[in-house]
Amino acid sequence: MDDSAWVGQHVLVVGASRGIGAALVDALLARGAAHVWAASRTGAGLDDDRVTRLTLDATDEASLQAAVVRIRQTTQLLGAVIHTPGLLQNDAIRPERRMQDITLDALRASFAVNAFAPILTAKHLLPLLWHGERAVFASLSARVGSIGDNQLGGWYSYRAAKAAQNQLIHTAAIEAARKSKALICCTLHPGTVDTGLSKPFQAGVKAEKLFSPERAAHQLLDVLAGLKPADSGGFFAWDGQRVVW
Ligand SMILES: NC(=O)c1ccc[n+]([C@@H]2O[C@H](COP(=O)([O-])OP(=O)(O)OC[C@H]3O[C@@H](n4cnc5c(N)ncnc54)[C@H](OP(=O)(O)O)[C@@H]3O)[C@@H](O)[C@H]2O)c1
Repeated sequence: MDDSAWVGQHVLVVGASRGIGAALVDALLARGAAHVWAASRTGAGLDDDRVTRLTLDATDEASLQAAVVRIRQTTQLLGAVIHTPGLLQNDAIRPERRMQDITLDALRASFAVNAFAPILTAKHLLPLLWHGERAVFASLSARVGSIGDNQLGGWYSYRAAKAAQNQLIHTAAIEAARKSKALICCTLHPGTVDTGLSKPFQAGVKAEKLFSPERAAHQLLDVLAGLKPADSGGFFAWDGQRVVW
C-alpha cells in the first residue's frame, strides 16, 4: 500500500454518504489526507476538523457551482476529486433484460447520474486541480460499460451510460492535459462491492470476488496513487489493470 500519496492532500469525494464513497472518505483520512470534502445529495454525516460535509447534487450545475464557492472559501486547490455516484436501479427502474424493457425515462435517469454527473463535476471542479502539481480526477465507472468486454448483453441503460461516461472523461482528460501536464483524469472499475447498489445482484458472486467497501476503497486509492500523467484518460480496474473500452 502506498500511504504517502494521500498525506496532506485536500480531496473532494462526491457520493460520500454511503457505499464506496463513504469508505473512500474513511480510507483517505486513515492515509493522512489533510481534509476531505464529503459530498452527497443528503449531505449525511458529521463534520469534524478534517471532514466537511457538503449537500451536492452532481446532476445539477447550480449545486456544483455552490460547492465550488464553498470549497474556495477554504482552499483554492485540491489534490484529488473522486466522483462516485452511479445508478443501476431505483423504485422506478430495473436493469433491462431485453430491448422491450427499455424506456426513455430509464435511459434519461441512468444517463443523468452515470454519464452527465461525472462530466458536469469535471467541468466545475477541474479548475481546482489545475495547479501544476500532481492531481487526480477519478470517476467510478463499471466494467459492464466496456463495449469490448460485453458478452452477455442486457442492462442497456447502465452499460450505455457507463460507456458514455468513459468517453466523456477520456475526452476531458485530453483537454485537461493542455492546462496541466501533472493532472491525471481517469475512470475506475471498483470490482463487485457489497453496497446497496449491488445488493440485488450478488447471488452469483463468489465470496472472494465480493469486496467490502473498505477493501474496495483502499484498492482504488492504491491504483490512483500509482497512476502517472501518461495514464491520464485511461479506464482502470481495482487491480490497476486497464479495462478494454
Ligand atoms: N457496488 C458495485 O458492485 C459496483 C460495481 C461496479 C461499479 N460500481 C460503481 O461504483 C460507484 C459507487 O457505487 P456504490 O455501490 O458505492 O453506490 P451506492 O452505494 O448507491 O452509493 C452512491 C453514492 O452516491 C450518492 N449520490 C447518488 N446520486 C447522487 C447525485 N446525483 N449527486 C451526488 N451524490 C449522489 C449517494 O448518496 P445520496 O443518495 O445521499 O446522494 C451515495 O452516497 C457507482 O458509480 C457504481 O456504478 C459499483
